Amino acid sequence: MSGTGGGPFRVIEGGRTGEPTPGLLITGASEVTTLAGGVRRGADQGAVGRVRTDDPTGPEAPVVACWDGRILAVGSRLAVEASLEGGGYPLARFARLDAGGGAVTPGLIDPHTHLLFAGSRENELELRRRGASYLDILAAGGGILSTVAATRAASDADLLAHGRRWADEMLTHGVTTIEAKSGYGLDLDTELRLVEVAYQLGLEGPLDVVPTWLGAHAVPPEFRGRPNGAEAYIRSVIAEQLPGIAAHGRARFADVFCETGVFTADQSRRVLVAAASLGLAPRLHADELAPSGGAELAAELGAASADHLATPSPAGIAAMAAAAEAGNPVVATLLPVTTWFLMKDHHAPARAFIDAGVPVAIGTDFNPGTSPTASLPLAMSFACINLGLSPDEALAAVTINAARALQLEDEIGSLEPGKAADIVIWRVPSTTQIPYWPGADLVRTVVKRGRVVHDRPDR
Ligand code: NIG
Ligand code: FE
Repeated sequence: MSGTGGGPFRVIEGGRTGEPTPGLLITGASEVTTLAGGVRRGADQGAVGRVRTDDPTGPEAPVVACWDGRILAVGSRLAVEASLEGGGYPLARFARLDAGGGAVTPGLIDPHTHLLFAGSRENELELRRRGASYLDILAAGGGILSTVAATRAASDADLLAHGRRWADEMLTHGVTTIEAKSGYGLDLDTELRLVEVAYQLGLEGPLDVVPTWLGAHAVPPEFRGRPNGAEAYIRSVIAEQLPGIAAHGRARFADVFCETGVFTADQSRRVLVAAASLGLAPRLHADELAPSGGAELAAELGAASADHLATPSPAGIAAMAAAAEAGNPVVATLLPVTTWFLMKDHHAPARAFIDAGVPVAIGTDFNPGTSPTASLPLAMSFACINLGLSPDEALAAVTINAARALQLEDEIGSLEPGKAADIVIWRVPSTTQIPYWPGADLVRTVVKRGRVVHDRPDR
């Protein structure tokens, strides 16, 4: 095995043992799920495009061919090999990667993470266990604000090291692209540093990182003593922080914590409209703890995604349904680990969104307060158990629909010719087993842009 990458990642060129070569042929799979055909919604949420075989080494077994970091062909071994030879891609130029009877999927996409922060908040677990609510802890100066204090004090090097550690863990769980929010700076200088570190982590790879600016995540301590502190902060966010972030040019999205007791729908609208005018596409933390007009606002703005949605109003669901029906779906990005970790007995009404034709994605919400897990497969387990998704619906939610939530559905999220060769080989024979083994280490091999970047063949 020849490791050629820098940093903490093992990068192995051209398959597991081969010489560097532009071609990679993944064979020996029991199952390939392609997710081909675009965003999934309604009755199609669980249509994953599965090809199975009882004979993974046979001529009819499904294989995936990649060339120069892109998917070239998916189909039976016999048909793909013939089309490669006939199409000017000599088989000798393909390294072989044996899936060992495992399932093969697109690389998973985590569309909602707060990757970058300093410190930890295990003390809040005890406070909540004794009955304190999430917003009580925030109002008392804890919660997000304690992470803000630690993050402001952290160096760029600290943040980079933390980001590498957790991005690496995400990779080992089969994730090849993530969104990473700022939001623990709440001043221009620290928010810029967070967005820049997220961007640098993406450049460093192997994960792709999509930076989101979340300046309106909480009212920072400097504004808390003032009358109307939330409104004063929102005005300074729009007048100073946002223009600085936009000029920096790294953040792709703007997000707001639109929640009763944090920022109103009107304040959220003003931030997101101003951000859109400067080129940052809107997404929202919407209706996490109480119906707050977040789903309605997401539909009104044509947001890429409305996230959490544990307590949307019927009007909010209807507004998102109407947007989907009109061909402008706002993805409902549901975060089932968060409601579990916050000890809620009420979870997002996933079935209502699916029945309303709204595409559903799933994310970890990785953060130090409400979801300290980097495992997207674990979030799939919770999606099945607490949200009532089928394993196939959950798979679409972390691949093509998560890609759509990041406006990257033309590039990633499915195994289709021309798309990025971001692929996972699993140590289970079918993806239906991914949510079935919660917390297990199920990933055998991760391929990013046609290169093996994580490899753990069966012993
Ligand atoms: O998505 N709800 C707002 N933001 C995060 C939690 C942030 C924190 O508690 O540090 C979330 O749950
Ligand atoms: Fe979040």
